[in-house]
Amino acid sequence: MPTNLSLLDDSQVQDSLKNNSLKIGVVGIGRIGLPTALCIANSGLETIGIDIDENLVSMINSKDYPLKDEPEFDKIFKNVISQKKFSATTDIVKAIPKCDIILLSLPTPMNDQNIPDYTALLDIGRSLNTLLTNGQIVIVESTVEPGFVENELLNSIEGSEKSLESGVDFHLAVCPETANPGEIMKDFQKLPRLVGSIDAKISSIVSALYTHVFSVELIQMPNCKTANAVKLTTNVFRDINIAFVNELALLFEKLGIDTYTVIDAAKKKYNFQPHFPGPGVGGPCLPVNSYQYLNSSKKIDQNLLKIVQEARRINEYMPQHVVDLLIDAFSESNRKLDNSTIALLGISYKPNVHDVQIAPSEDIIKLLNTKNVKLKIFDPYFMSETVFGHKIENSISDAIIDSDAVIIITGHKEFEELNLETLSNSKNKSILIDCTGKINPKDAKSRGIIFRGIGRGDYI
Ligand SMILES: NC(=O)c1ccc[n+]([C@@H]2O[C@H](COP(=O)([O-])OP(=O)(O)OC[C@H]3O[C@@H](n4cnc5c(N)ncnc54)[C@H](O)[C@@H]3O)[C@@H](O)[C@H]2O)c1
Repeated sequence: MPTNLSLLDDSQVQDSLKNNSLKIGVVGIGRIGLPTALCIANSGLETIGIDIDENLVSMINSKDYPLKDEPEFDKIFKNVISQKKFSATTDIVKAIPKCDIILLSLPTPMNDQNIPDYTALLDIGRSLNTLLTNGQIVIVESTVEPGFVENELLNSIEGSEKSLESGVDFHLAVCPETANPGEIMKDFQKLPRLVGSIDAKISSIVSALYTHVFSVELIQMPNCKTANAVKLTTNVFRDINIAFVNELALLFEKLGIDTYTVIDAAKKKYNFQPHFPGPGVGGPCLPVNSYQYLNSSKKIDQNLLKIVQEARRINEYMPQHVVDLLIDAFSESNRKLDNSTIALLGISYKPNVHDVQIAPSEDIIKLLNTKNVKLKIFDPYFMSETVFGHKIENSISDAIIDSDAVIIITGHKEFEELNLETLSNSKNKSILIDCTGKINPKDAKSRGIIFRGIGRGDYI
């Protein structure tokens, strides 16, 4: 029988954490849930990872660490598995009744119409309705729009017949995850966490758990929806600001101004926060979070958050701009884009990670698919047979060799060393399109390369 933590006083809660007498379930052990579960297990609390992905679960139980691009957690993984503090299962029915606290780290993507899709959370909510006993605490780490937890999710757990009562049979809280892929360990150790709950007495228990595991600042929010609004605000702030510099980049290209020179000087002013132009804004968070806010606001007033709509429009236009730069560079070279070979370097949505979810590269590839060109793709972080319907090359040189043009889409650190001599010596004097700002236009031009860069107005 799980412990009903809401009936304990603060010191009893502390004791159960220190004595490692609590069992924690983490539902969804992907990019965010697995590192979270590993940290909880590493603090000494027995932790069960629950996931529908059978391959992932059997990989974990065979001691094979799955998150190769978050290598910092590998050692913790080996320790907690060998100490039997962490195990994984697909059997939610058996696992949930054993857990005192259950974290939900389930995906919250959006559908083809950019409508947030909360199916995974709602499915689990309905399962919890039949599995929760004795006042267990459920903490939502997933990113959701304000109001979702206290309305749709709460209803799904209580059930249509109200067979469970929130605050009595279970307790619901949020602690939105804010870690950044590629830097999850660093973020776990330094970023403050936000805690909101439906019934106030639970917040201190949730805070005690996170303080015990992560030792970071805990910020108490008045309720769940405010905590979820903070999480969305930080990400949507970035989407809007990137859209602003992307639009400046489009203007500066025409005005003959270098965007990076402008940002570099502007950031000397104390209240300017630098953001940089690029081929679009992807990943599982920023675009989805903007659409989550838009979904919230359209239920209230279609005219609210126009700035977010506009930011999405601009950021979603940028892949087309990349293709336009390519077409422009081909016309300067007096060669035809038709039948040419284009090398694409970097397909993940941001530097130095493996993730290609909602990556701008996908839209660039879709646009190039309509142009009768051959694509040669390489990404040192995404080593697979194919991506977006195209073969992946084994090395930068395999991609570049015999290509008429190179587009650097993602600014992986490996591409900073890109040998411009190789490009300038390749067939037909190569064309180079830089979406990352990492290539010095003067260096490229001085080698006879036909260069275009997003926001590089002084070289057009
Ligand atoms: N990845 C990020 O950068 C990041 C950062 C902060 C917050 N978040 C948020 O965290 C949440 C999780 O994101 P993620 O990137 O870890 O997703 P992910 O896709 O990497 O992992 C989700 C896991 O949930 C599992 N799953 C799906 N449906 C399930 C079900 N019905 N029952 C059990 N398991 C199920 C999947 O198999 C997968 O292993 C999302 O809300 C996301 O917005 C993500």
